[in-house]
Amino acid sequence: MERAPTLSRRSFVALSTGTASSLLLGTSHWQAPQDALKRQALPIPPLIDGTARGGVVTYDLTEQQGVMGFLPGLQTETFGYNGDFLGPTLLMRKGDQVAINVTNNIGLTSTTHWHGLHVPAVMDGGPHQRIEPGETWTASFPVLNRAATYWYHPHPHAPLGQSVLMDPMGTGYQVYQGLAGMLIVEDDTSDTLALPRSYGRDDIPLILQDRRFHEDGRLMHFPDDFNAATDPALRKGGHFLVNGVEAPLLKVGAQVIRLRVLNASNARIYNLGFSDERIFYQVGSDGGYLAAPVPLSRLILAPAERAEILVDLGADKGRKIKLRSFNSENGNRLVPRPLQDSWDTADFDLLTIRVKRTKANAVTTVPESLVTVDRIPQSEAVNAPSPRPFELNANPFGINGKRMDMAIIDARIRRGDTEIWEITNPNSQAHPFHVHGDSFQILSRDAVLPPAHELGWKDVVLVRPFETVRIIKRFHDYADTLNPYMFHCHILEHEDVGMMGQFVVE
Ligand code: C2O
Ligand code: CU
Ligand code: CU
Repeated sequence: MERAPTLSRRSFVALSTGTASSLLLGTSHWQAPQDALKRQALPIPPLIDGTARGGVVTYDLTEQQGVMGFLPGLQTETFGYNGDFLGPTLLMRKGDQVAINVTNNIGLTSTTHWHGLHVPAVMDGGPHQRIEPGETWTASFPVLNRAATYWYHPHPHAPLGQSVLMDPMGTGYQVYQGLAGMLIVEDDTSDTLALPRSYGRDDIPLILQDRRFHEDGRLMHFPDDFNAATDPALRKGGHFLVNGVEAPLLKVGAQVIRLRVLNASNARIYNLGFSDERIFYQVGSDGGYLAAPVPLSRLILAPAERAEILVDLGADKGRKIKLRSFNSENGNRLVPRPLQDSWDTADFDLLTIRVKRTKANAVTTVPESLVTVDRIPQSEAVNAPSPRPFELNANPFGINGKRMDMAIIDARIRRGDTEIWEITNPNSQAHPFHVHGDSFQILSRDAVLPPAHELGWKDVVLVRPFETVRIIKRFHDYADTLNPYMFHCHILEHEDVGMMGQFVVE
């Protein structure tokens, strides 16, 4: 069943990390006329809760090659976990000991990272836990995380030298081909909350991704498909997939529903809202529930961020509403003009929701409060007077003036410490900064407390142009002087060209 991997000269690219201002604005010929689409039902990724054997809950994932029909009459070669595109949703229980067997059948060196999970560095699935073609790697760890929506994806670091990137060996390529899946943790607290919890019925996973295709259906990659030096859009596009289908249809009951939204796009930032301008309620962020539902009409979701939201459809039987990205409102505030494609500044639909009859035992109210979020006191940090600095560099891409080097540990942190990290962004482009190892909390944006929906647990923070963000994080366990954790920009093309660094806890 295996096809030969298509590694050829096409796979190598001279990637300019040079001046953004010299880049040309991309065209939008890849746009699909959204009204011409026949709406397909929203696919729900299968839910896998593992097999319990001898006190260990075991999951099996296989990275494999696939074929999808994204565009009418055309076939697209893809990758997926246990299928053609994306992967099953892994359901885990806090306190369980789990083992995940990951088999690599894509013909390229890969890894699989548990994004947001609090695991030992050697089980993290980062660039150092390579899985060679044909091999199986097993990650095992106790589930320590709070109930929330996490995800998994490849995280290989392509060899980079002389500005030549072996594109298919990188994270951007492999995720774009379809390797990503959701991971849900439940715990005793989430059991007690009066939230919709019927997976796929009123508790809906939404994996948002944008794609560009060739006229023959192939996904766009470096270097033939677009030249990074002249086409700044990189792996952004005008085909917006939700769970692998463009602008699909979801039928739900007239009741409160939960949407678990994951931005699994390589580079796209969404400004989410609904077509009827209704208020919705964010109940969870990357690493846990918020203290109380936060009413919102818009929600910026950057690459790798997750948000659990409640939408009250109790009075909407018979109606259709759309989940939309209102990117026209972003202006140049997140993506500067030379790096924009048409969709950075236009509105587009992601999902149509058709409201049917109320189901039995439906949740019909939004709770007043959720959980106690213990804010980490700044006094707990060992470096409160002088936070650890991280400067995001775009020319060339790096952090603190350095490009990611697999052989260099950029930061050593003492086990047991709590630290404040200060991330500064001197660029005109926003960068989603992600830290491995465990969730953190956002202390401030430009010295001001962040808004209510950012006061919970996070593992990605969008650092806006010319902004300084402080986060606080505990490094209380899993000392390992050899195996590092990563910190990086989660725009995957930035990460791949070196906007990443490594830390150990010792
Ligand atoms: Cu989503 Cu370093 O990872
Ligand atoms: Cu991660
Ligand atoms: Cu970036």
